[in-house]
Amino acid sequence: MKFHILTLFPEMLEHGLHQSILGKAAAKGKLSFHIVNIRDYTQDKHGKVDDYPYGGGAGMLIQAQPVYDAYQSLLRKPEKKMCITATETAEPVKKLRTIYVTPQGRTFTQDMAREFAREEELVFLCGHYEGIDERVLEEIVTDHVSIGDYVLTGGELPAMVMIDAIARLVPGVLHNGESAETETFHNHLLEYPQYSRPEVWHDKQVPEVLLSGNHKRIETWRLEQSMVRTRERRPDLYLQYQTKQKIIHTLAKQKRKYIHMMEQLARGMAHMVYQKDVNVLLQVEGSRSYAIYAESPAAAGMLMESLGGAGMLQQERFSLVTCQETIRELLQDQYGLKVKNVCYQACYTRKEMLRVSCRNIRRLTESDLPYIVSHYQDRDEAYLQQRIRAGALFGICKDGEEQLSGFIGLHEEGDMGMLYVESKHRRQGLAASLESWLINDQLKRGEIPYCQIEEGNDAVVGLQKKLGLYLCQEPMWKLFFG
Ligand code: ADE
Repeated sequence: MKFHILTLFPEMLEHGLHQSILGKAAAKGKLSFHIVNIRDYTQDKHGKVDDYPYGGGAGMLIQAQPVYDAYQSLLRKPEKKMCITATETAEPVKKLRTIYVTPQGRTFTQDMAREFAREEELVFLCGHYEGIDERVLEEIVTDHVSIGDYVLTGGELPAMVMIDAIARLVPGVLHNGESAETETFHNHLLEYPQYSRPEVWHDKQVPEVLLSGNHKRIETWRLEQSMVRTRERRPDLYLQYQTKQKIIHTLAKQKRKYIHMMEQLARGMAHMVYQKDVNVLLQVEGSRSYAIYAESPAAAGMLMESLGGAGMLQQERFSLVTCQETIRELLQDQYGLKVKNVCYQACYTRKEMLRVSCRNIRRLTESDLPYIVSHYQDRDEAYLQQRIRAGALFGICKDGEEQLSGFIGLHEEGDMGMLYVESKHRRQGLAASLESWLINDQLKRGEIPYCQIEEGNDAVVGLQKKLGLYLCQEPMWKLFFG
């Protein structure tokens, strides 16, 4: 991922960003930092970039021209010829997502970090003094973002805070082999207390349970500690946690039917856009994918209205899932949604790991994208690339071979899918190996694996039964505007 930073104080960022984990990731080519000194672009012969604000007031403003020209320098095509005429140089080729770092912006959160981490390139514009001429902000800025309700002397420190939070979500930056999607900070609980050697320090003993080697007990203790800590230190978060637990508890009464929403909540990969009692509208982070559960059509209508009514939804080109027939009717009749497909959920609720006969399975990288695109036509290239970047697509090679024979993945909504095995390699257990491997991988993270099977896809139903997944007999509908 490439970060461009427009600043008047490049040294602040050069030193800060090339240390520790980010520095190592940059050396490995996983990240790159392009720091641009706004002053290099001023047309003022004394190098001045600021002036007094019209209408009076304290301090100086950064002028529009140097900021605009510094930004334009990011858009120019790489120069091919040694000698170029003035008319050939300044041609913009694309618009970049540009974050103006300002106390007047939306407050930065982990969800926003996750969303920005999906971009290939990001621009950070750091202000100083009293700010920047509004006219250039109107032309280049796509997002105004703050790091909190306090005022700092400039945007460089906030930019570094945001870059750090975004960069660690880029696959390959952290070493733990986990995909960025399994992060669960936003699970509404603070982390439990941690201890290291020695066992006794200042007469304080490490809690006995942590020395027991009993993983189940340790997990329970950690969850309790997280709850106590969150209740004491962040009652606001604790309230959200309790609400979420109440909804999961309600959905769990019909687990096979609502496994998608339960898992999206439990994995922390969706947030409640609107919620009243146990009626809830979920949005998968960073996507246009929603799911709804309501105790009555009236409650569903209220959730939909909170979202802004049909016009707003249409604009968003979103998709919405429901497992309730009366709600599906309401969505069709009142909001003009159309059914895209009808599916049946299947989930693996057992705890035992499955046997994987072919273990030659690896996480796919962008160099595998052409293979995936040429063999899988159900989703477009941008989506498949996004799944690879999220570390959520896995390929299989037959034992002793290096060429891919098939693949499987996790959709952005959390369900298993995109299962494909080349026809010449079918009936050799590769699909079963891929799915068993993916199920085991999710079990290790404490998740309940599930998938959604399109009506009439008997081959896939057969595989799910063979692997021990339970099939829900009631349908789910995927709706969209179109
Ligand atoms: N610039 C000055 N203060 C800031 C803040 N709190 N967040 C983002 N940018 C800033």
